[in-house]
Amino acid sequence: MENFDFYNPVRVLFGKGMIAQMEQYIPKNARVLMVYGGGSIKKNGVYDQVVEALGDHKTVEYGGIQPNPSYEYALPALDIIRNEELDFILAVGGGSVVDACKFIAAASYFKGEDPWDILAKGAPVEEALPIGVVLTIPATGTEMNGNSVITREATKDKLAFSSQKVYPVFSVLDPTVTYSLPQRQLANGVVDAFVHVIEQYLTYPTEALVQDRYAESLLRILIEEGGKVMAMDQPDYDNRANIMWAATNALNHFLSAGVMVDWTTHMLGHELTALHGLDHAVTLAIVLPGVMEEMRELRKDRLLQYAERIWDLTGFDHSAIIDECIAKTEQFFKCMGVNTRLSDYSIGQSTVDLIVERVENRGYEFLGRSGDIPVKLTRSILEKRL
Ligand code: NZQ
Ligand code: ZN
Repeated sequence: MENFDFYNPVRVLFGKGMIAQMEQYIPKNARVLMVYGGGSIKKNGVYDQVVEALGDHKTVEYGGIQPNPSYEYALPALDIIRNEELDFILAVGGGSVVDACKFIAAASYFKGEDPWDILAKGAPVEEALPIGVVLTIPATGTEMNGNSVITREATKDKLAFSSQKVYPVFSVLDPTVTYSLPQRQLANGVVDAFVHVIEQYLTYPTEALVQDRYAESLLRILIEEGGKVMAMDQPDYDNRANIMWAATNALNHFLSAGVMVDWTTHMLGHELTALHGLDHAVTLAIVLPGVMEEMRELRKDRLLQYAERIWDLTGFDHSAIIDECIAKTEQFFKCMGVNTRLSDYSIGQSTVDLIVERVENRGYEFLGRSGDIPVKLTRSILEKRL
């Protein structure tokens, strides 16, 4: 295990009815920008609960954040914050709303010309407004991490930044607010969380036993509870609670402490969303089997560990086991109702060519962070998924 410097300051308020508890963690005189998405919170009662919990706080609303939140739509919030002298941001929604809030929080202190530099040039986040979160979809883990992913519509760039300054002060995770989620979003959330674990696990064997077994238990929970959520007619509290807490744990940085991580699947997935608008989780289900196939020799030991501990696959024919664990992974995504081929979405060779060109132009040497997947493998990974 490598040395690590671990930091996670997020207070989590978990469980039914916990929205009512959040006010004690908002500073008394805070002037709040309440940010939400396309309106689901007004239909499922979350909006009313939040307004009640905010009590007498001066609150200005900014709704309409779309999935894969855009830089362009985040910018007007900066003027509202300045004009209304707001000093606290409350995100009420899924990963898109929370990520938009993280960007707004950082951009509101940005001293340079264009806050897009935080994403495109890694400009440092010196300060940020405090953020509270009421999460409505278990998926991204953004409620307990310092990451944000923003799309610039004009150039179709979907880029991420990370900063300790944008960790939420608190996050409310009430599993009952997920009851209004359509099946497609529930499935997306399970698949996204599953791939988050994989990106921090499926590299090389380590002696980091805590991280290993933690990752493996999360993967098994997501497979089991994900299967149940697809089969149920009525929501079950414990099922939703387990999915929600698993998704948070999948990306709150505990798994990545001291081990090699990848993120190639996410990097290529973001290109697919930026170009074709595919749901984030859909892009991961397409790309991951390609990465596994491409790395089958280099990462053989870890793939065999994954095959044995997650899919109970053992035997002497290692190549057949790896084939089968890739097939099982794909089958799991399909059982969640998520297709796994570019052709399922009418995407062909021209998109592969375009992504190869875009990734090369970004000037990176490697995909992801593991340093074992040179950018030139982009074509081979994506062509496996046509
Ligand atoms: O906008 P509304 O009307 O609220 O509808 C949303 C949206 O259409 C709906 N929804 C959310 N909660 C609901 C609900 N509908 C009914 N009932 C509820 N309780 O679900 C739709 C999708 O919402 P979105 O926020 O886009 O989903 P998700 O949480 O999956 O977020 C995806 C975004 O997060 C980024 C993705 O790239 C994508 O932009 N990610 C962020 C990460 C991070 N910050 O750490 C890591 C991830 O890998 C990911 O990249
Ligand atoms: Zn993700």
